[in-house]
Amino acid sequence: MSRPRVFITRRIPQVGLDLIGAVCDVDLWDEPLPPGRDELLKRIAGCDGVLTMLSEKVDDEFFDAAGEQLKVVSQYAVGFNNIDVEAAKSRNIAVGNTPGALTAATADLGFALLIAAARRLVEAHEYIHADKWKTWEPLGHIGWDLEGKTVGIVGMGRIGQAFAQRCYGGWGMNVIYTSRSPKPDAETQLRAKRVSFDELLEQSDFISVHTDLNEETAGMFNKAAFEKMKSNAIFINTARGGIHNQADLVEALKNNVIGAAGLDVTDPEPPALDDPILHLPNCVVAPHIGSATISTRNAMAEIASDNLLNGIKGEPLRCSVT
Ligand code: NAP
Ligand code: GLV
Ligand code: GLV
Repeated sequence: MSRPRVFITRRIPQVGLDLIGAVCDVDLWDEPLPPGRDELLKRIAGCDGVLTMLSEKVDDEFFDAAGEQLKVVSQYAVGFNNIDVEAAKSRNIAVGNTPGALTAATADLGFALLIAAARRLVEAHEYIHADKWKTWEPLGHIGWDLEGKTVGIVGMGRIGQAFAQRCYGGWGMNVIYTSRSPKPDAETQLRAKRVSFDELLEQSDFISVHTDLNEETAGMFNKAAFEKMKSNAIFINTARGGIHNQADLVEALKNNVIGAAGLDVTDPEPPALDDPILHLPNCVVAPHIGSATISTRNAMAEIASDNLLNGIKGEPLRCSVT
């Protein structure tokens, strides 16, 4: 019997390539940039499974190009807003993702952005490189304390709770949150309080976004939302750039409507080099590196490979979104 054919849209850690390569004929796109659309549609033709990144739009056109034998799309990420899940369901194509494995790493990165924004770390680093560090400055580089502040978590899921736990356990913060459903464990363990979105905007010193990008969350951080926030509030987004309106965020940061921001995600991604979001002293930006640690990426590779292989065999996926 011939081996199943798979296309992997970027190089993933070797542990995943070994698992897949032991069973399948692998076509690996081994370039620093993702395949262009035409190339992608060509490469997936005749595949039994495709291992995708956030950069691939997986829709009817994708499924048509792949053909009837396609059984599974395995996403190397927890978020899957690039995938038309309903279209996959209607064609009986399984869709997998990598929840859990990247929770701690992404929460850590969110916290790194919070501290960096609060303590103006990037600005201070650039100050040295601009040869401006001449002496210890009694009034220079003044930022904000973290201890005992109120943090507002928008989307109290896996990563939201891990972020809240760092805030509560490490820095004694008061935790408030919004989510579609109440989170009794977080309410008991972190003394977290569920509030309305407006209450969260008004009461939080720091706001951290952890929802998925969906119809309700797209653009929810807009001009009106920033105007309800405290004037020294810090906005952290490690979820998806589409959840904030970036032009409104730039204006809010420029005009000191809010204090600062820390972003691991932007809209678009990557931003052009002259995008104003990259040129604000009070905004720290990272290039979507939330899950980028050795053990996290290895764990993601294992889950994504298991999902791919199980899907090809027609077995339930280890982590399924359908
Ligand atoms: P999750 O456990 O599914 O958490 C998402 C949370 O968002 C859920 O608690 C959900 O509420 C809540 N939510 C959805 N719509 C909402 C709305 N309209 N208002 C308020 N809350 C809403 O997912 P996760 O594993 O924590 O990951 C969260 C997101 O982080 C991913 O979807 C991805 O986009 C992003 N991410 C980014 C990176 C990075 O590298 N920067 C890494 C990993 C993940 P319910 O629980 O009530 O349904
Ligand atoms: C990364 O952004 C993910 O969703 O895993
Ligand atoms: C600063 O270095 C201090 O000792 O306060």
